[in-house]
Amino acid sequence: MSYNLLKGKKGIIFGALDERSIAWKTALRCHEEGAQIVLSNAPVAMRMGEINKLAEAVNAPVIAADATSMDDLKKLFEGAMAHFGGGIDFILHSIGMSLNVRKGKHYTEMDYGFNQKTLDISSMSLHRVLRTAWDMDALNESASVIALTYIAAQRIFPDYNEMADAKALLESVARSFGYHYGIKKKVRVNTVSQSPTATTAGSGVKGFGGFIAYADKMSPLGNATGDQCADYCVTLFSDLTKMVTMQNLFHDGGYSFTGVSQAVIDQMEK
Ligand SMILES: NC(=O)c1ccc[n+]([C@@H]2O[C@H](COP(=O)([O-])OP(=O)(O)OC[C@H]3O[C@@H](n4cnc5c(N)ncnc54)[C@H](O)[C@@H]3O)[C@@H](O)[C@H]2O)c1
Repeated sequence: MSYNLLKGKKGIIFGALDERSIAWKTALRCHEEGAQIVLSNAPVAMRMGEINKLAEAVNAPVIAADATSMDDLKKLFEGAMAHFGGGIDFILHSIGMSLNVRKGKHYTEMDYGFNQKTLDISSMSLHRVLRTAWDMDALNESASVIALTYIAAQRIFPDYNEMADAKALLESVARSFGYHYGIKKKVRVNTVSQSPTATTAGSGVKGFGGFIAYADKMSPLGNATGDQCADYCVTLFSDLTKMVTMQNLFHDGGYSFTGVSQAVIDQMEK
């Protein structure tokens, strides 16, 4: 169902890899709600060609950009502004990658070279995106920027590895830049802390099956799906949430504030 919440709005959506991606689902929902979109992903992610299906469905151009490259980001914003014929109203940062996880390195045996790359891709890329927009004055007044994060930024989840540190930094960048952009142009910057979701990035976490089932049992409402995350992002891009900024917003069915659930107690007593 469409509420026309994003009618006339223009946004950039980073990170739609395939149809399981949270960014993919968000692009579909934003389109349904009347937004015009530009899609972006890393040049290597384009090789699979999947994104072209989404581009067709939401009638959006695709502009490749490695989110760690200031040149790529500048070209992306120039391309998006030329396409829209003006400024941008919303951005979804749905980007994450851990080199240490990918290479099977335990947290205690971290390779610091890999770690630098992880932090650049997963966290400082948000700063780079905001900085590019800031320098080009690309965002319209009251624009809304969301980055996706996970509760491992606040609590230990051993197999989440260095991504926990990356998410803590990402949330901090959202707060810090959110302050400056709020004052400059009433721009909102928030992070959405999503339930575990079966996507390419999500499934990279060791023992993901047990992890996602546990979270589901611990959450009074159950795990939030990728589609529900897309719905939530729509509300945050809309004009109905103009005073929400610098927040880490849990979208997790109540998991973050549950000490223990009856379902988990029952399981332990078996
Ligand atoms: N899946 C989950 O359980 C879960 C839970 C909470 C938060 N998140 C976060 O949601 C976001 C989206 O992940 P997803 O679960 O949809 O998985 P996904 O694998 O579909 O998306 C990750 C995206 O990051 C992109 N990316 C990687 N390196 C890049 C670079 N250098 N430049 C530009 N893009 C790059 C990938 O191409 C991919 O499209 C991530 O930040 C992830 O950490 C996921």
